Amino acid sequence: MKLNTIEHADCLDFLREIPDESVDVTFADPPFNLKKRYSTYWDNLDVAQYVEWCHKWLRELVRVTKPSGSIFIHNIPKWLSYYCQALNEIADFRHWISWEAIGTPLGKTLLPTHYGILFYAKDYSQLKFYDVRYPHHRCRKCNTLRKDYGGKKKRLHPFGPLVSDVWTDLHRIRHNKRRDRHPCQLPIPLLERVILMSTDEGDTVLDPFMGTGTTAVAARRLGRDFMGTDIDENYVKISSDHVAAIEPTSKIGDSWVSLYLDQVATIRDEDWAELQHYFEVPQPAPAIDNKSIVYREGKLKVIEESIYAYERPKPVQNELLGMGLEDSDGALKEQ
Ligand SMILES: C[S@@+](CC[C@H](N)C(=O)[O-])C[C@H]1O[C@@H](n2cnc3c(N)ncnc32)[C@H](O)[C@@H]1O
Repeated sequence: MKLNTIEHADCLDFLREIPDESVDVTFADPPFNLKKRYSTYWDNLDVAQYVEWCHKWLRELVRVTKPSGSIFIHNIPKWLSYYCQALNEIADFRHWISWEAIGTPLGKTLLPTHYGILFYAKDYSQLKFYDVRYPHHRCRKCNTLRKDYGGKKKRLHPFGPLVSDVWTDLHRIRHNKRRDRHPCQLPIPLLERVILMSTDEGDTVLDPFMGTGTTAVAARRLGRDFMGTDIDENYVKISSDHVAAIEPTSKIGDSWVSLYLDQVATIRDEDWAELQHYFEVPQPAPAIDNKSIVYREGKLKVIEESIYAYERPKPVQNELLGMGLEDSDGALKEQ
């Protein structure tokens, strides 16, 4: 099994070849069984069949993860509820992360507007985990902090709060210029946050459903290794092309950070001591209420553009295009 290449194989065949407890972190974003028109397989199993198949690869993911490692699974809440049944027996539940999907609440009450990311530890007593922070949310017009922290503003962290289990600051890629021909492409900063929380430089992240290679790209940008597969040859080509264009440069100074557009999307809490020298921090402390920290070296390098600046392969026949299904939020409405 080669590091840093995306294999063209079925996930179960691929996983069976991997030795026990050899991977630092596993991340899975399987097909949602919502009749999506993928080109090589049928995304429409009956519930029992789908759940049985998922339980097989879930068991494999736990088997190959190191005792210090984490297992993350992304899906709609309906399927995650089945996954918990299996995972609670063999791993330690940590969190159900709710990732906001922007949707207009029209049509029905309790319209699903979040995806879930399950976070399990292989063994909580040995878990490797780092606290992470995201930038303060501010009013677009007046730049004032969106949240009222009452009398506690003096004690606010200048960069931003610790990340909670509700993620509203990272969004799906909607602009065609920035996404591939895939119905369910995840945004790179989402995977970068997961990777910064759970791994160190040089660790290995495994994804058995690579799609466009988001996990691989995020891992390489952050100086980690990856392993992965996809059953669809076209996606293997797309993801391999992505990875080839990536350098492990998502850094400020010596600290790995997640950069998105011209923003820092996520940092590790423990890196702020070093990172703060790269920013002008408003003084006195309460000034943070309406002034942002400013990167001293001008504009942050927009690494994201380099990822998409490659010639895209032409769509293959049958590929999902122009079917009105590319927008993954559709998945939420269909569940
Ligand atoms: C939800 S998508 C993953 C998207 C990916 N996270 C991204 O950001 O591009 C699911 C992927 O699983 C792949 N897939 C479906 N069945 C598979 C199987 N049995 N083995 C491996 N890959 C499979 C599909 O081809 C699809 O690309």
